[in-house]
Amino acid sequence: MISYHHETKIFKLDTQTTTYMMGIADNKYLGHIYYGKKLEYQDLSYMLRTQEHPFVPSKLSREKLSFLDSFPMEYPFSGTGDFRESCIDIRDKNGQSGLELLYAGHRIYDGKDKLQGLPAVWGEGCQTLEIALEDVCVGVRVLLSYSVFEDSDALMRSVKVENIGTDAVYLERALSACLEMDDEDFEIISLSGAWARERHIKRQPLLSGSFVTESVRGESSHQDHPFLAAVSQNCTQTCGDVYAMHFVYSGNFLAKAQRTQFGSLRMALGIHPDRFCWKLRAGETFQAPEAVLVYSDAGLGKMSRTLHDLYRNHLIRSSYKDKERPVLINNWEATYFDFHTEKLIEIAKQSAALGIEMLVMDDGWFGHRENDDSSLGDWIVNEEKLPGGLKYLVDEVNKLGMKFGIWFEPEMISPDSKLYEKHPDWAFHLKGRMPSRARDQLVLDLSRPEVVDYIYDSISNILHSANIEYVKWDMNRALADIGSDALAPDRQGELSHRYMLAVYELQERLITEFPDLLLENCSSGGARFDPGMLYYSPQIWCSDDTDAIERLMIQEGTQLLYPMSAIGAHVSDCPNHTVGRVTPFETRGITALAGTFGYELDITKISEQERNMVPGQIAAYKKYAPLIREGNYYRIASYRENHKYDCYEIVSKDRSQAAVFFVQVMHEPSVKSRKIKLQGLSEHAVYEVDGRQYTGAALMYAGLLRERMYGDFQAEVIEVHQVSDRTE
Ligand code: DGJ
Repeated sequence: MISYHHETKIFKLDTQTTTYMMGIADNKYLGHIYYGKKLEYQDLSYMLRTQEHPFVPSKLSREKLSFLDSFPMEYPFSGTGDFRESCIDIRDKNGQSGLELLYAGHRIYDGKDKLQGLPAVWGEGCQTLEIALEDVCVGVRVLLSYSVFEDSDALMRSVKVENIGTDAVYLERALSACLEMDDEDFEIISLSGAWARERHIKRQPLLSGSFVTESVRGESSHQDHPFLAAVSQNCTQTCGDVYAMHFVYSGNFLAKAQRTQFGSLRMALGIHPDRFCWKLRAGETFQAPEAVLVYSDAGLGKMSRTLHDLYRNHLIRSSYKDKERPVLINNWEATYFDFHTEKLIEIAKQSAALGIEMLVMDDGWFGHRENDDSSLGDWIVNEEKLPGGLKYLVDEVNKLGMKFGIWFEPEMISPDSKLYEKHPDWAFHLKGRMPSRARDQLVLDLSRPEVVDYIYDSISNILHSANIEYVKWDMNRALADIGSDALAPDRQGELSHRYMLAVYELQERLITEFPDLLLENCSSGGARFDPGMLYYSPQIWCSDDTDAIERLMIQEGTQLLYPMSAIGAHVSDCPNHTVGRVTPFETRGITALAGTFGYELDITKISEQERNMVPGQIAAYKKYAPLIREGNYYRIASYRENHKYDCYEIVSKDRSQAAVFFVQVMHEPSVKSRKIKLQGLSEHAVYEVDGRQYTGAALMYAGLLRERMYGDFQAEVIEVHQVSDRTE
């Protein structure tokens, strides 16, 4: 899968259908040669264009600066002549910044080393190339890692920076990946939005200058997403080129695409350099997180399926990853903070009778939390609300045959809490300045080991106190006033990343001590829906917007990158609490099938008619769960684009069955039946749909006809079964 060709000094990495090539120019500069469709080995070093002016420095030293500013650097450095986006900046003992990273060796090995303290892709059938670049002047070594798996088309990259000098240096930028290629008038795809409007797909031309998508909020965020793709203008779901980068990290990030004066496009991705500064003493190393790269020659659909398979097979670790998740009911939208044991038991009783399998008690069970202005940090059960304590409640719920789950927001502290009274300095704060509250809460300084231990012990004690089988780990504000009394002045720039490392450490400890726990991450809805979090939890709450129509766009953007088994989706109350829209209960159920199914409403208050529909919805979830968890995803139509209807399809890996999920958002009068062209089936196999038989080719190329449904917000699931053996 990975080879080095001595004569030409070319590195070649092959995945199932792609090739990635780099070369060493002038015996020292590592340049990018090719990324695209799989190629046989050939000397493509001409792509480095070193035979053209300004040539390489050994040939034309008087134009070295022009060389550095135009060469397709594999890992660009700055301060010495490359004025494009750089991946690394180091301030040395003289207070100066400027690097020239030159090739110093490489090794190819089977497997893939762990990334110390960070989430990363793992598994068998893998090879890794590690290339060392050095700057002897500053005394740093940079190790670039590239891993490929036998069963995946993705390429994983990460970077480790080592101080090989004798003095401390300050790492002010350490991005994880760069990709430079000839610009072919690519368009840029990113995901962006806001609270309750996360991960909407955006596509735009990049005419000149740069496109940036980023977060400096200390979380991957509602607003932007650590993903960037350059696509050919003809790119659709099924055709065209896609060059995608996705970051396995949950904190600040920068993703940038830059059109250069020489007609190239440079894409870079990594930890955001704003306010980032990591001190590296002699001998110390810094590990930058992992970036996943995908090239697709068959449009966005192939990119999505590559990422879905990679994340299902090589990122998510939980034992739940291949298991059916319990159908849950969460009391948040049912009661908000206003609940007590009896109310929860009543919800559980009625839920159990309808086939719901787990009760999740959300925010408000601890300290004196009657609303969102107190008690975070005081993880002690409020026995006024829960007389008899947690054990009594959980036992009662268990007696009904249901599992029990609980909510935490471990990273936060309320100024109105016992914890804050005792340890005001445990909240992030800048010296002499009152930190800004958000939702009346402050952020714990997780760079302090004693804080991490306190939080961990609090969660662990609660989990040991009763039979709790699920945790919803929430995080409800962005990081600001990031300062710590416990860290030296020249290390304050490390705090955002140290915070993320501590969150990862806490979750690692949690799933190690409680391996059977089902952990669901959440951040004010979907502000930390990212690959980093998937390493710890097999599912993430997608958005606080549970409206079935708003969810279509949120889920489409999420499905672009993530397997549906990771997407927390629930049926909620109407009028919807966020947007006030009224949608049929059936449509809410079908929209929520796009993930881990559950309910977010007061089951004791919904109508008899709706209550009667619950068992059928649960049966549908159970029927489609294996397909949704394991199958291939195809986007057929986008409500975001057509403003009328939404449609996607899941096909089993052996292509013997499929389910098509269709939501008609708008009923248009006087139009004929709608054509839906399926994807991913076997051309020659015969399938049955609604009692009629079709070849796969007919379903894919001619399509199915669907009658218009009467009214807005109507939905249906179309089942497709193979009835005769495949002949291809
Ligand atoms: C934000 C989450 O997204 C909600 O589901 C809920 O858990 C609230 N926080 C509780 O404060």
